[in-house]
Amino acid sequence: MSLPRTIGAIVLGLANFASAQKYRTNNNSSEDAVTVRWIGNTPALNLGSTFGLPWPRGKYQANQTTFTGLGGDGNDQVQIESWVIAYWPDDSIKWTGHALGGSEKVYEEYKITASTRVEANTTKRANSSTQSGLTVSDSNDEITVNTGKLTATFPKSGSTLLSTIKTSSGKIVGQNGRLILRSQSGITNDNGNTTSIDKLRFESNIEEVTVDSGKGSTVRSLITVRGKHQASLGTHDDWLPFILRFYLYANSDAIRVVHTLVFDGKADKDFVAGIGIQFDVPLAGEELYNRHVRLAGSEGGLLSEAVQGITGLRRDPGEEVRSAQFKGEQTPDIASWDTRVSSRLKWIPSWNDYSLTQLSPDGFTLKKRTKAGQSWVKIPGGTRAGGLAYLGGATQGGLAVALRDFWKKYPTSLDISNATTDVGQITLWLYSPSAEPMDLRPFHDGLGEDTYDDQLDALEITYEDYEGGYNTPYGIARTNELFLFPFDKTPSSDTLASLTEHANEPPALAADPAYIQQTKAVGSYWETIPDNLTEAARTIETHLNFLIKFYQDQVSQRRWYGFWDHGDIMHTYDEDRHTWRYDIGGYAWDNSELSPNLFFWNYFLRTGRADVYRFAEAHARHTGEVDVYHIGPFKGFGTRHGVQHWGDSSKQIRVSTPIYRQVFYYLSGGDERTGELLHELMDADQAFLTVDPRRKVRKDNGTYVIDPTALDLDLGLDWSGLASTWLLEWERRGPRWEEARSKLNTTMHSIVNLKNGFVTGLGLYNLYTGVISPPATDPENLGNVTVSHLSASFGLPEIISQLTDYLGDDLPTGFEQVWLDYCYYYGAGAAEQKARYGVSFGNLSLKQGHSRLTAYAAKKLDNSTLAARAWKEFLSTDGLSPSLSWASEHLNGSEVLVPVDEATWVSTNDAALYGLAAIENLAQVSYAL
Ligand SMILES: *[C@@H]1O[C@H](CO)[C@@H](O)[C@H](O)[C@H]1NC(C)=O
Ligand SMILES: *[C@@H]1O[C@H](CO)[C@@H](O)[C@H](O)[C@H]1NC(C)=O
Ligand SMILES: *[C@@H]1O[C@H](CO)[C@@H](O)[C@H](O)[C@H]1NC(C)=O
Ligand SMILES: *[C@@H]1O[C@H](CO)[C@@H](O)[C@H](O)[C@H]1NC(C)=O
Ligand SMILES: *[C@@H]1O[C@H](CO)[C@@H](O)[C@H](O)[C@H]1NC(C)=O
Ligand SMILES: *[C@@H]1O[C@H](CO)[C@@H](O)[C@H](O)[C@H]1NC(C)=O
Repeated sequence: MSLPRTIGAIVLGLANFASAQKYRTNNNSSEDAVTVRWIGNTPALNLGSTFGLPWPRGKYQANQTTFTGLGGDGNDQVQIESWVIAYWPDDSIKWTGHALGGSEKVYEEYKITASTRVEANTTKRANSSTQSGLTVSDSNDEITVNTGKLTATFPKSGSTLLSTIKTSSGKIVGQNGRLILRSQSGITNDNGNTTSIDKLRFESNIEEVTVDSGKGSTVRSLITVRGKHQASLGTHDDWLPFILRFYLYANSDAIRVVHTLVFDGKADKDFVAGIGIQFDVPLAGEELYNRHVRLAGSEGGLLSEAVQGITGLRRDPGEEVRSAQFKGEQTPDIASWDTRVSSRLKWIPSWNDYSLTQLSPDGFTLKKRTKAGQSWVKIPGGTRAGGLAYLGGATQGGLAVALRDFWKKYPTSLDISNATTDVGQITLWLYSPSAEPMDLRPFHDGLGEDTYDDQLDALEITYEDYEGGYNTPYGIARTNELFLFPFDKTPSSDTLASLTEHANEPPALAADPAYIQQTKAVGSYWETIPDNLTEAARTIETHLNFLIKFYQDQVSQRRWYGFWDHGDIMHTYDEDRHTWRYDIGGYAWDNSELSPNLFFWNYFLRTGRADVYRFAEAHARHTGEVDVYHIGPFKGFGTRHGVQHWGDSSKQIRVSTPIYRQVFYYLSGGDERTGELLHELMDADQAFLTVDPRRKVRKDNGTYVIDPTALDLDLGLDWSGLASTWLLEWERRGPRWEEARSKLNTTMHSIVNLKNGFVTGLGLYNLYTGVISPPATDPENLGNVTVSHLSASFGLPEIISQLTDYLGDDLPTGFEQVWLDYCYYYGAGAAEQKARYGVSFGNLSLKQGHSRLTAYAAKKLDNSTLAARAWKEFLSTDGLSPSLSWASEHLNGSEVLVPVDEATWVSTNDAALYGLAAIENLAQVSYAL
């Protein structure tokens, strides 16, 4: 199920700068320097980072290319490690991943130079590793990584994921890092009867630990730990499989952790009551008054306290003492304190435990106590906590742990415990035990919808496509990002505030939009915004900007936050109640309906805007994990929009399609969890054996038997997802890339062979060979016509455009034609459709969205009449018309729960398609606007 990062990874290592210059003088070599900049502001800290870079077809061969990095305008060489993450069909490099080590100096930009040379294989890796100082030792029992700034040890079995974290001076500041989990067998019923509820506790149980340091790692080391949660109290099978990825960079004193959990419980029996990760912090030898607790509050704020406070007392130990303690510095020798204090320390309470809890996105509470059995003392809280906790001492050092998007992923908590003992703990709760247990049961009891007829009738009113048994969370996942920061001594509060910011917006590097566009490595259907915009184009840009900002604001105003929800947006608005239809069957969470993902990512690609990157990233993390099944009978499929992300009975690859995560995958330099999601779809076609997407509407539902050699396949909704999967597996040279290439080619040839190509609508797919035969209604291939507004709304035009770019002259003969026919005739009108296909396509909607197909055909055919038609479809058919207000309205007072902005004319279907079509039309036929 995992795709090792080393697929096709030719680590090109580091040539030193002198040799790079030498290549420049070689006649047979070429060299390009690509500038990468931080997305958004240059960060205060560089603790190591990974990014991706695209390269034009045919330019660089993997075995003959070296990459070097320079910082700033100058010639300062920086440590990078490089590997290939995607190839063009001719095996030239399409995308590379690059790891940049940590550094004191943070440059505004870096130049990455690719150099080819005649004699490959001369890179001296030994040089590189001595330069970087990252060392990895891998024994039978454990793996140890030393970044030069910290050393971390990862056992290969047991419950401890991270046995020690040591600072460079050798202090152990974190120990026994382990996952903890609480669950219960039921939920308190309305009478408060809890007698029959079993409460269980679990710890991580490691099954596999791997180190992926590229080949001859120099700059980055990745430790991947897989396992399940095992009961430590109560009886339960091992469950909730986890994957933890620890990223360590040379010269960095941070560890980034990507924490993935797959839900494999029963919604009505397994109620998760707390998901945490816990570390021991050694405190022996540290005076209580030199032990410090720090908890991040709002807007860069911190709670700064000592375990035994000596400020605010009736007697003053001395200003120097108070000031040192507050700053987290070692206090002056106690002999120098005012003896009225030093003689009475034993009367000053020490605080053993602290707890910060964020049960809503609007507020966190804080409390502390001297010990178990004594009352908690409330500490004034705040709104949105930064998600970082530190425990340690002025002389012994300590550990900080942070969770990205802490408040956005509520309910969360940070606990500090046993701070007065020799070993304290920090517990980061990804799901707070103070919250109600997680309830993943269906939100209604089925309402008696027992037959397909009833279910279809109910769809008419709530738009929910319900079917018992399909509303299961079994197999969904969630990924979170954590950071660990060890310290030799308690750091300044400013340092911790910077690290809180770092954890919430981990710095990311990217190439300029113009460069990415020029390589055509992730679609040629978007373009950067030119300076000489026409009035009409400027209006469209204003509207695009409006939509992006509107959704960003809606997320915050409508509180689209929470453990499972953060990153998603809603589908349709209820203007009467002034609220999104969060509680109406098929209208609530959007689950990628009509490709908002592609809108957001393409908008980022053309603008490079940091706010759009973060927004699209959260959306990608959500939609790829929560809306998709990763194990179980629906593995590979995602769920249609609804009140619960997993609730609707329509399970399809149109939701899980990897094209929605492709841009993030490449820009992130091959984020390993995302790569795993892309690869895991290689078996998505198997899910057709379990789920017949047409089961409720077929005439022969009594007699129909699923035949693996003749599976109903929608040439739009289904094939676009499969084709995206196969192209990504092929270009990444994943473990099954040859099978992927073969199925891609076979299906493309099959579609060409259908009398009406894409207009056929449906075909019978042979799971084993990839051959698609004519649909059951047209065994003779006389020419079926089935055109749906949805077929091209889930990435079909985008994947075909990419395939066309990718295959070039090897595109199967006739394939371009069958696609251009579809593009042309969708919007051509009944008469032309009838003349060409014998029948019209019927009433079709989503014409604004389909204008991008017209634009694509216009560009390919160089046909300005068609280009003009594209703009007409875009501007004056359906969707979001230029005559709308293009403004939101602010509502407050008793009409609404809280003040909000609303735009009743916006639906996410329309917004997604408007965004995509605007971007693609501007890129393809802006001259005709
Ligand atoms: C790199 O070289 C090796 C050894 O010659 C060869 O097997 C491999 O296919 C090459 N890889 C690429 C992508 O050209
Ligand atoms: C470099 O050469 C070695 C042995 O000569 C070979 O095993 C290896 O595959 C080559 N590496 C590349 C990247 O071509
Ligand atoms: C509580 O539930 C248990 C198990 O269902 C039942 O045996 C018991 O009678 C209930 N107690 C009350 C007070 O309802
Ligand atoms: C605190 O220490 C006590 C005594 O050693 C231990 O029982 C308890 O589990 C510790 N708390 C945590 C959160 O580990
Ligand atoms: C099969 O289809 C018929 C006609 O649409 C319908 O009446 C019947 O309920 C369906 N079967 C099931 C199992 O729902
Ligand atoms: C904008 O400038 C580009 C490049 O010079 C040119 O090709 C294009 O036609 C111009 N567009 C408009 C609307 O003037």
